[in-house]
Amino acid sequence: MSPPPANLVSIDAGYDAASMLADVREGLARPQKTLPAKWFYDERGSELFEAICALPEYYVTRTETALMRAHVAQIAATVPRGASLIEPGSGAGSKTRLLIEKAAPAAYVAIDISRAMLERGAAQTAREFPQLRVVAIHADYTRLERLPDHALGETAPRVLYFPGSTVGNFPPQETVAFLRRVAGWLGERGSVLIGVDTKKDPAVLEAAYDDAQGVTARFNLNLLARLNAELDAGFDLAQFRHRARYDEQLGRIEMHLESRIAQRVRVAGQWIELRAGETIHTEISCKYAPAQFRALAAEGGWQCTHTWTDEREWFALYRLVPGLVG
Ligand code: AVI
Repeated sequence: MSPPPANLVSIDAGYDAASMLADVREGLARPQKTLPAKWFYDERGSELFEAICALPEYYVTRTETALMRAHVAQIAATVPRGASLIEPGSGAGSKTRLLIEKAAPAAYVAIDISRAMLERGAAQTAREFPQLRVVAIHADYTRLERLPDHALGETAPRVLYFPGSTVGNFPPQETVAFLRRVAGWLGERGSVLIGVDTKKDPAVLEAAYDDAQGVTARFNLNLLARLNAELDAGFDLAQFRHRARYDEQLGRIEMHLESRIAQRVRVAGQWIELRAGETIHTEISCKYAPAQFRALAAEGGWQCTHTWTDEREWFALYRLVPGLVG
């Protein structure tokens, strides 16, 4: 194994591994059984997600990358000189690299719940950009109240980069709460660049989350495999079916795992019962019309200065600055 690059700093921000067990126990005790989507991303889950991003049906990554390519000079121009670019749920994928190349921030701060993914991605970015200071923070960003200021530099302007429509995986009220918390991370001179999927033909949306090759099905089922491996659960994956449906009223894709039979399954020393056809709800992916997202951002304390979108309006990237108070 090669030593970590000299321009990379790693920080443990109090990520608590026990929280998966607590989430699973609480979610499976609800009338509608639920497992939080953030637990999809173990090593296999992250690999499957990368495979999803390359699927013909999953327009999200392709559309956003094309959007970034088309407007990167203008997008990069909004990043102040000497800024720290902060990416929660970092993948340091091609979109981030494009932005780093053009905007040349002083620091790149990656925050991720998966240590393996975080370390690999951050080390790769540090090697690719030897002049860039890279800070890898192992944390669950949905629970992070403050950023470790000492590692980021107190004075550098901060820009949050949140691509991929990850924000869609939270219900609207959690998005508002997250955006409010982000205001505390970034301070008065902070800004946000956020990529968000838009509403479109339900058939297009459902195909994107239920692809012909079954990669999304494997991604969904992998969550049960993870519980088997890490929480001593006894799920038989063959007894579950992947479901993805667009709820037009709520403007969101819902992913579920449907039990094919009536069954009892052991999870972390407790038994859960599932009826035939009963589902475990694993993910929402909210889709927002641009005006709707800008209104949500305003509720979270942010004002939109730029909206970039593609010809079909299949995806949008917003730049947000602190909104007027009062
Ligand atoms: C990470 N997130 C934005 C993806 C999405 O589109 O909601 C996760 C995903 N789930 C199924 N396919 C992709």
